[in-house]
Amino acid sequence: MGLVPVAQREAYAHVAAGAIAQNVYLFAASNGLATVIRAWIDRAAIGDALGLSHDQQVMLSQTVGYRKAS
Ligand SMILES: Cc1cc2nc3c(=O)[nH]c(=O)nc-3n(C[C@H](O)[C@H](O)[C@H](O)COP(=O)(O)O)c2cc1C
Repeated sequence: MGLVPVAQREAYAHVAAGAIAQNVYLFAASNGLATVIRAWIDRAAIGDALGLSHDQQVMLSQTVGYRKAS
């Protein structure tokens, strides 16, 4: 991010988060797992648990688990 102009950093972060989430969806689909993106989350608690610094922020979370038995 240090190479990205400040005004564009948030947009880059949003695009990167979407691409990362898509990779998790692809991995889950190809390994018989289920996943959902979650944005309605306790960002402060997650940031604390991950030990994020003041200039890092939680964009999204993604839950991964086993598919519901059919
Ligand atoms: C950007 C984004 C944020 C989301 N945030 C939440 C969330 O906080 N909680 C939630 O239950 N679903 C959230 N969803 C929806 C879930 O990812 C998922 O699509 C929804 O639970 C339906 O899943 P299903 O089709 O497997 O039942 C979000 C979806 C997107 C695209």
